[in-house]
Amino acid sequence: MNPNLIADRPTFVTHLECSLTGERYAADRLHGLSRAGKPLLVRYDLDMVRAAVPRATIAARPTDLWRWRELLPVRRTSSIVSLGEIETPLIAIPRSSGGPNVLVKDEGRLPTGSFKARGLVMAVAMARELGVTRIAMPTNGNAGAALAAYASRVGIETIVFCPDDTPEINVREIAMQGARAYRVNGLIDECGAIVGKGAAEGRWFDFSTLKEPYRIEGKKTMGLELAAQFGWRLPRAIFYPTGGGTGLIGMWKAFDEMEQIGWIGAERPKMFAVQASGCAPIVKAFEAGEEHAERWTDAHTVAAGIRVPRAIGDFLILRAVRESGGKALAVGDPAILKAVEDCARRDGLLLCPEGGATLAAYRAALADGLVDEEDEVVLFNCATGLKYPMPEANQALDKNAVIDFGTL
Ligand SMILES: Cc1ncc(COP(=O)(O)O)c(C=O)c1O
Repeated sequence: MNPNLIADRPTFVTHLECSLTGERYAADRLHGLSRAGKPLLVRYDLDMVRAAVPRATIAARPTDLWRWRELLPVRRTSSIVSLGEIETPLIAIPRSSGGPNVLVKDEGRLPTGSFKARGLVMAVAMARELGVTRIAMPTNGNAGAALAAYASRVGIETIVFCPDDTPEINVREIAMQGARAYRVNGLIDECGAIVGKGAAEGRWFDFSTLKEPYRIEGKKTMGLELAAQFGWRLPRAIFYPTGGGTGLIGMWKAFDEMEQIGWIGAERPKMFAVQASGCAPIVKAFEAGEEHAERWTDAHTVAAGIRVPRAIGDFLILRAVRESGGKALAVGDPAILKAVEDCARRDGLLLCPEGGATLAAYRAALADGLVDEEDEVVLFNCATGLKYPMPEANQALDKNAVIDFGTL
């Protein structure tokens, strides 16, 4: 049995904090947004972590997500839920990227086939610890699947609302894993409004992105893992497909915590928030020098995961991108699909469209001189490409006819 799942380990959460005002909230309680209507961030006693957990201790453990226990909010080992949250590999894609040091962090290998497993495994473990019995969530697909899987595993009831054009496979996966799944004739924020209404009536707990504080702690492990995989330093640039932005915000938080503990130095990657041209509220706000983004109307893109017209953590995404010296970039659907195809055909790695968006954005950034060809760059492929529609391949062969092998 993996010791990370069964060993009791000390935990160091001190309190939660409003990401806008800094107002403090008690740890070990159920929380939604802060009184200012903004996401809450979990805070730790990092001096205590430094004293208790040398890097070598982390390095000696099995490499899954729960190895980071002292930097996670779950207090009781019995609250842990797991479907095998492995450390995801970094895979070079030299042929399709043209960059010898471009690595894809392939999150498609996680349970339920996406990085949503990181956030939801943590949020469900905390929900279990804090006695939640019923959860609802709006989703573009992958988050709902991860929620359904983990919640069903621990006997928590789930109700999930998806835009009605969510890929069929995602909706079926959510239902198959035990959630009540509803297709809604609206976008994700409109699904979120239904969840919010039900939560206000006390019907369920609202698990929308960043509206509960623990998903971000799970997503933070992407940043922790990167540092460990790079030998306790960080790559030059990170390209992240940005919808709600939890992962980008989480990684930025992870870097900060690791620096305060003394596990890494002060250098940071340039953070590139990648959006689709058909839904690019963060890019628009970035370019206008705004701190908050306006809702994007008429949102459309093949990359369903980043079709998020309004992100509640917009200011946190924008802050991280600006502080890092990175940029918010939009790429069109044709460039996204071309990147997916090139990577599959030339490097043998099937990206999801959102992952394709990061490759397309990398190409644009390289052309514009925002990154150099030799730079060590990480692109996030957040879900397995197998969940998404692929071009038809319908050539047939009659085994009973004469086969012209020269034409095959
Ligand atoms: C495959 C994929 N990529 C990216 C995202 C966006 O993630 P975030 O909300 O952290 O910005 C999602 C979210 O649904 C997704 O499913």
